[in-house]
Amino acid sequence: MLNRGLETADLFSVEGKRALVVGGTRGIGRAIAWRLACGGARVAANYVRDEAAATALAREASEANLDLEVVRADVTSVKGIETLCEAVADRWNPLSILVFAAATGVHRPFGELTLRHYDWTFGLNIRAFFDLVGRLLARFEGDSSVVAVSSEGAVSAVPQYTLVGATKGALESMVRHLAVEMAPRGIRVNVLRPGTVRTDAWEVLPDAASRLEAAVRRNPRGRLTTAEEVALAAQFLCSAAAGGIVGHTLVVDGGARLVSG
Ligand SMILES: NC(=O)c1ccc[n+]([C@@H]2O[C@H](COP(=O)([O-])OP(=O)(O)OC[C@H]3O[C@@H](n4cnc5c(N)ncnc54)[C@H](OP(=O)(O)O)[C@@H]3O)[C@@H](O)[C@H]2O)c1
Repeated sequence: MLNRGLETADLFSVEGKRALVVGGTRGIGRAIAWRLACGGARVAANYVRDEAAATALAREASEANLDLEVVRADVTSVKGIETLCEAVADRWNPLSILVFAAATGVHRPFGELTLRHYDWTFGLNIRAFFDLVGRLLARFEGDSSVVAVSSEGAVSAVPQYTLVGATKGALESMVRHLAVEMAPRGIRVNVLRPGTVRTDAWEVLPDAASRLEAAVRRNPRGRLTTAEEVALAAQFLCSAAAGGIVGHTLVVDGGARLVSG
């Protein structure tokens, strides 16, 4: 009889994998944590400030019988990184999936940006990723996946986005270098670059409404990307089906990047 190998569903499965989603209790990270847990992964969803959002996620996951725990730790601090690494060593060891979805930023014209803003933005968006991956390297199992969440600002000039864009460019470059070094160990490192997704992150921008409207107009599908669409792509990158994908940037924007103006 013909050996059909793994069934299609198995190829896309994350069943039984141990996953850490940094910034996993709100927005895109939350959708990724939820999707991975729905796929049967054992998920640690990390956060730092919003206790209510974390508690709500933990409760919903428990009601849905999902294996998802929330872990409070500020990944910009040594103590926070240590807390998170200890939790992984304790409960998600060996680690199969790391998704880095946390980000911050100061949205101002270049002339108003200071070194304090620079340190704040780089401290989370790139320094914490560097530190965390370095410390967790020994924890990864042979067949594992790291996904760094980037944005269009990595490659385009977005208004008042200088610092965030610069960190995302650095993140994408670091992923390419890491990807080559980690490939022999069976760790696939990739970038997921979502289009505009309506999340809390938009609430802090004074011109959010007009920018979101512009994003809808620019998108060939006439709507924004959803966090769930991004999460499905994340699950794919972490599955056996993506076994040949290394150091790639997967854009999930409904085609928005193809439209100018
Ligand atoms: N939204 C978009 O349109 C869009 C587009 C392209 C790319 N992205 C990227 O997608 C990712 C998620 O964005 P989002 O809009 O979903 O963000 P969000 O809704 O603001 O969620 C951010 C998450 O990161 C956590 N976090 C923040 N600082 C942290 C720290 N120091 N330590 C640990 N966790 C921390 C937050 O925890 P608390 O809840 O405790 O604050 C929260 O869970 C980011 O990398 C962003 O650049 C977003």
